[in-house]
Amino acid sequence: MPSTLICALRRRRFLQASAACAVTSFAGLASAAAGSLGTGPEGFATRLLPGPARVQMVGDEAPATEVWTYNGVEPGPVLRLRQGTPFHATVENRLSEATTVHWHGIRLPNAMDGMPGLTQKPIPPGGRFDYAFTPPDAGTFWYHSHEDSLVQMGRGLAGALIVEEPDPPAVDRDLLWTIQDWRLEPDAQIAPGFHNRMEAAMDGRVGNTVTINGRLPETLHVRAGERVRLRLLNAAIARIMSLRFEGHRPVIVGLDGQPCDPHEPANGRILLGPAMRADVMLDMRGEPGRTYRVVDDFYDRLAYTLTRLAYDPAPPLRPHPLDAPLRLPPNPMPRPDLATAVIHEVRMQGGMMSGMGGGGMMGGGMMGMGGSAPWAINGHSMTGDGSADMPPLFRIDRGRSCILDFRNETAWWHPMHLHGHSFNVLSRDGGPVPHDEWGDTVLVRPREHVRVAFVADNPGDWMLHCHVMEHQVGGLMTTIRVT
Ligand code: C2O
Ligand code: CU
Ligand code: CU
Repeated sequence: MPSTLICALRRRRFLQASAACAVTSFAGLASAAAGSLGTGPEGFATRLLPGPARVQMVGDEAPATEVWTYNGVEPGPVLRLRQGTPFHATVENRLSEATTVHWHGIRLPNAMDGMPGLTQKPIPPGGRFDYAFTPPDAGTFWYHSHEDSLVQMGRGLAGALIVEEPDPPAVDRDLLWTIQDWRLEPDAQIAPGFHNRMEAAMDGRVGNTVTINGRLPETLHVRAGERVRLRLLNAAIARIMSLRFEGHRPVIVGLDGQPCDPHEPANGRILLGPAMRADVMLDMRGEPGRTYRVVDDFYDRLAYTLTRLAYDPAPPLRPHPLDAPLRLPPNPMPRPDLATAVIHEVRMQGGMMSGMGGGGMMGGGMMGMGGSAPWAINGHSMTGDGSADMPPLFRIDRGRSCILDFRNETAWWHPMHLHGHSFNVLSRDGGPVPHDEWGDTVLVRPREHVRVAFVADNPGDWMLHCHVMEHQVGGLMTTIRVT
C-alpha cells in the first residue's frame, strides 16, 4: 500500500495524524537513517543502525549527551507495523562492541528473538543481521539490545514498536511516552560505573533524570473534551514507576500489548516496572486554561512531577466524554487450559537482606553457575546475557498449558519477563486478580507469590528473567525449552 494512502487512512482515524505520518511517509531504505519504514508488497522494511550519537536530552542550553542508540535518535525510531503484515529489519552494527536486537513482547520465531549465543551469534562491530517476522498481535511493544544489555540499554539502545490494530478504537490522538531513566553527571553525560555490586544486589541503577521520548518532559498541551490514547512504555533499566494523573481518571485498556478489561488502576496509579507497557484512555475532563500534574510517587520520599497537562483555554471539544467503546479488539491469543496445565515453580532468590545465610549479597546458598552472582532462580544463576550451555529450567511439549508459580523469596521487586509468549495473570498471594490481564512481564513484590499461565505454543529456547538489568545480568535469569 503506498504510504500516502496509509496517511489518508490514519487521518480519518486521528485528528492529528501528521506526526504519525512522518514515520511512514518515505519509501524504501534510502531514508532509513531517519528511521523510516518502507512499505512494499512484502510488508514493512527498515534499517537500524546501532551506534553512538550526541543528543540534546536535558534542554537546548545544556551540553549534548553522548548516548548509544539506533539511527542517531534517542530513543530509537518508533516502528509502526501492522498486525499480520511482515516486517523486515536489517541491523548494521556501528558500535565498537557486539550487539543484538530483541523484539520485546512479540510472539515471533525463536531464531528472530535476538538472544546472543542462544538464538544467534552476536552481531560484531561492522557486522549485520537480518530480522524478519510477522507480528501476530496488535499493541504497544518495544525493541532493545540484548547483548551487554545492562550497559547498552543503560546508554540508550531501545525504541518503541507499535503494531497497529486494523480497526483501532476511536480517539482524538494516539500518543506514545517512552519513559527512560538516566544517571547523568552535571555535564549531562551518562555516569560511568554500570556494574556496581552494591546496587546490583539492591534495586539496581535507579537514575536521577527521567525523560519522555528522549527529552526532559515538556508540558503536554491538551484540549478539554478530547480523548487521548496514551501508550506508556517504561524503558528504564531499573526504575519502577507509579503514575498518577492529577484531576483525571485514566482507564487501562491494554497491558504489555495485550488488550485487557478496561479498568481504572488501583489507587488511581498506573504501576509500571521496567519493560512494562500500559495503553491508557485519557478523557481530558479538566478545566480549560488549567494545568494538572502527572506525578510518579513509586519510591518513598522520591515523588516528582513527571510532566504537566496544560489545557487550552478554548471551550471543551465536546460536551460529554466521547461515547465510543474503550475496549481494544482482541488478539489471537490461545487461552491456557488450567485443568491440564503443568505447574513449574520459579523461586527468585538472593539480593541484600534475603534472609538466606549471612544476609549478605551472596545470599548464602547460591551454588549455581555464577558462584559469586548476587541473584538466582531455583538455586542457579545464569549471568550476563545468557549462556547456551546452561540447561533450561524445564522442558515442555509444544501446545501444553503451563503455570509459572513465581515465589519471590527476596526483599526486592522484580518485573519478571518471559520471551516469545504472553501470559495470563492468575493470582497474587493466592487471591484472584480483579481484571482479566495478560502480559509478557509481571511485577512481583517482595515476598509475593504470583501465578501466571500460558500456552507453550512457540517452539524454542526462551529466556525468563527479571527486567531490572542488574538483576538479569546478576543471575535472575533462566531459560525454558518448548519442544
Ligand atoms: Cu526486554 Cu529479555 O527482554
Ligand atoms: Cu523480551
Ligand atoms: Cu529483579
